[in-house]
Amino acid sequence: MSGDPRAMSRRQLIRHTAWFGAAVGFAVCGGEVISHVAGAAEAPSAAGRPALRFAQISDSHLGFADEANHDVAATFGQAIDRINNLGYTPDFVIHTGDLTHLSTPDQFDQVKQMVTGLRTSHVFTVPGEHDSIDDAGQKYRNAFGAGTRGDGWYSFDIAGVHVIALVNTLNMDKLGHLGVEQLEFIEKDVARLSSDTPIIVMSHIPLFAMYPDWGWATDDAARALGYLRRFSSVTCLNGHVHQLFSKTEGNVTFYSGTTTAYPLPRPGDGPTPKPVTLPARQLGAVLGIREVSYTRAQHPLALKERSLQ
Ligand SMILES: [Fe+2]
Ligand SMILES: [Fe+2]
Repeated sequence: MSGDPRAMSRRQLIRHTAWFGAAVGFAVCGGEVISHVAGAAEAPSAAGRPALRFAQISDSHLGFADEANHDVAATFGQAIDRINNLGYTPDFVIHTGDLTHLSTPDQFDQVKQMVTGLRTSHVFTVPGEHDSIDDAGQKYRNAFGAGTRGDGWYSFDIAGVHVIALVNTLNMDKLGHLGVEQLEFIEKDVARLSSDTPIIVMSHIPLFAMYPDWGWATDDAARALGYLRRFSSVTCLNGHVHQLFSKTEGNVTFYSGTTTAYPLPRPGDGPTPKPVTLPARQLGAVLGIREVSYTRAQHPLALKERSLQ
């Protein structure tokens, strides 16, 4: 899987789903072999088999080299291996941002190279603030933004589920912000959907107020979530905080994912969220990946956390 075919897939996904709705588009994605995606989308769920299975990976921070983890490429590689050995092929993999540590072209190249090792047809990403240094995410979009809308947001349908990928790291002076253009995109994007469509939202910074003093919140998320209030199941997946956390508010459940690079302190544990150095043997226990599955007529989605150890 190279960057371009994936980008084509995403672009075509958006186009086809816009025209034809959920599953149909997957049969004709530019001739790319995606039969397992089509199969998953069309699989009967009578036996309780998931209609959709995907994995989340986050905060790989390629380029970070400090005592909290001297080899983030190695641990990212372990996370990729973990996904490749789940015992099934995930329908797609999402990376919820901070792909790189310092947004350099070499770091973006390294991420692109490494994710080609994921055994899946699609890798979907959103940028973190570490991917947006100095240029509001332009280098990120050069590497990963083909086929996206606005400043890198997009959505797609798969197996009856609607996935929305949001960008809340554009402005380094105002992190945790979606902005009017993106909010209008969300409003229009979901207008056509029936209220029983399960919604998955991916973003880097949490859409809930996990710890605003450290910027672990999105200041205009309430308006975005307002557009999603009528849906029976909304699952928000984020990175940025480098630790597992979940919270339910009404119809929405938020899940912060862990990192493949280094842990951060618990909210408020210290003046700033600096990398935490653990004894080497303990690091793998807090780094990890997440599996997510959706079985029709079962709400909410099922999550499994897998550590690298
Ligand atoms: Fe991060
Ligand atoms: Fe971040």
